[in-house]
Amino acid sequence: MWPVYADTMIGLKRLENIQYCIETVLSESIEGDLIETGVWRGGGCIFMKAVLVAHEDQGRNIFVADSFEGLPKPDENKYPADKGNDFHTLAPYLAVSQETVKNNFKKYDLLDSRIIFLKGWFKDTLPTAPINKLCILRLDGDMYSSTIEVLESLYSKLSIGGFCIIDDYVLNECKAAVDDFRAQNNITSELIEIDWTGRYWRKEN
Ligand SMILES: C[S@@+](CC[C@H](N)C(=O)[O-])C[C@H]1O[C@@H](n2cnc3c(N)ncnc32)[C@H](O)[C@@H]1O
Repeated sequence: MWPVYADTMIGLKRLENIQYCIETVLSESIEGDLIETGVWRGGGCIFMKAVLVAHEDQGRNIFVADSFEGLPKPDENKYPADKGNDFHTLAPYLAVSQETVKNNFKKYDLLDSRIIFLKGWFKDTLPTAPINKLCILRLDGDMYSSTIEVLESLYSKLSIGGFCIIDDYVLNECKAAVDDFRAQNNITSELIEIDWTGRYWRKEN
């Protein structure tokens, strides 16, 4: 089910959605940097960079956030929705080192000083990350914790008109985190389907 060699597992429709969201923010001059939280081999972020370069954007950073060690063990007391989640056991496949991801950027000649790595667990790295404003917030951390922690740390930094993209809405844990966060924050922007698991919305207020 997961790719053996590809640099991303997200598939064409979700790649096209990244391109659509970036081209929209560029054409409407929506301010901010881009981030993907949960990058695996880096292909989603590499594609973001390729789209920026194709449009000759020189000013935006791309934050590449990951443990580079796979997913965390569930904290079932804090996040009951993650009870029984065993994705951390998939580390042999899901843990890709920061060095490997950097080399993947280099393969496409797309590594420069505007690619900023945030290595560590989201709960530790994101609250203090040097991020002022985002135009694209792309979440791909699979679990309740790895979704809600990102939304709680970063959604307030997403510009009005920016895009929040959810890769894992098909997973109950992720869906619960997104639904809870949207309800708690009165987010009523339409949650739009990308494919069987991808969803996104545009921040309206
Ligand atoms: C499904 S993969 C991401 C796939 C990737 N976006 C792509 O384009 O193929 C999930 C990634 O999230 C990371 N991850 C999940 N939860 C995390 C957390 N709480 N802190 C840091 N990294 C996390 C894992 O290490 C893994 O690399």
